[in-house]
Amino acid sequence: ARLPALLRQMPKAELHIHIEGSLEPELIFKLAQRNGVTLPYPSIEALRAAYAFTDLQSFLDIYYAGASVLLKEEDFFDMAWAYLGKAAADNVVHTEIFFDPQTHTARGVPFETVIKGLNHAVHRAHTGLGVSAKLILCFLRHLSEEEAFATLEKALPWRHHFIGVGLDSSEVGHPPSKFERVFARCRELGLHVVAHAGEEGPPAYIHEALDLLKTERIDHGVRCLEDADLVERLAETRIPLTVCPLSNTKLCVFPTMADHNLPALLDAGLCAMVNSDDPAYFGGYMNQNFIELFAALPQLTARHAYQLARNSFEASFVGEEQKRAWV
Ligand code: HPA
Ligand code: ZN
Repeated sequence: ARLPALLRQMPKAELHIHIEGSLEPELIFKLAQRNGVTLPYPSIEALRAAYAFTDLQSFLDIYYAGASVLLKEEDFFDMAWAYLGKAAADNVVHTEIFFDPQTHTARGVPFETVIKGLNHAVHRAHTGLGVSAKLILCFLRHLSEEEAFATLEKALPWRHHFIGVGLDSSEVGHPPSKFERVFARCRELGLHVVAHAGEEGPPAYIHEALDLLKTERIDHGVRCLEDADLVERLAETRIPLTVCPLSNTKLCVFPTMADHNLPALLDAGLCAMVNSDDPAYFGGYMNQNFIELFAALPQLTARHAYQLARNSFEASFVGEEQKRAWV
């Protein structure tokens, strides 16, 4: 691997991590036992062997099955605390964590249980790990607008526990336009807004996220390079792209890491950075993403590493004063 010490040691922010995607097979089995949940896999090894994905949906099916062991506040705390420890070890000094409340409320787990467990870990990370952490509530785009509004309603008593909203799950067939009114309401509430777009979906979905949802960042966004006008727009507005290299290779968005377009995104002057997405499922946390990316793409240098770290802080939702301290 190239530049490994620099990549590991540099301070960085993570802006695209689904907390349910940080649930390691070992913890899935531990929580299944603790909660008396029966898993459709006989062992940790059998579960891990099922992590051979062909596209986003093949991953999501297993990701939602894994989350079925999360029932109690303590389970959500344990999951988030394990992730925050990994983040600290990778010199992640700030992280903005996605969570999918509908995955849990649909199973009868109260919203309150989810948010209290996650919030407890987030607070402990500040003092215990020196990691600044914030939560972003994601709506599942394969569900209806009505269900998103109902989720927002359940979340409102906990408004101060999360800084923004996002949009995730199955992209193709569920364009951003489906959630235009929900996002308008979230912006009125002063929430930050982001959305997954251009991972498997076309560049038109990125335009929609910007025009209709008025998102401040695009999650993934790697398909923007198919649309020159869009690239120009993203460069001019410095709308960040939260890119996830290991995710993109494991979900076959690119055939191999050597085919990843992150060097081209940086060359186009875009505010792109590296993130782990679902590290327990895709083969590694932040530093593993950096190391595999730089190993596969020899044109990436220390200058690019610095730019990626800088972009991560620029794109974060921290205050301007904190941002200047990091950049
Ligand atoms: N894309 C869409 N939805 C998701 C992802 C992703 O990469 N990870 C978890 N939910
Ligand atoms: Zn994602």
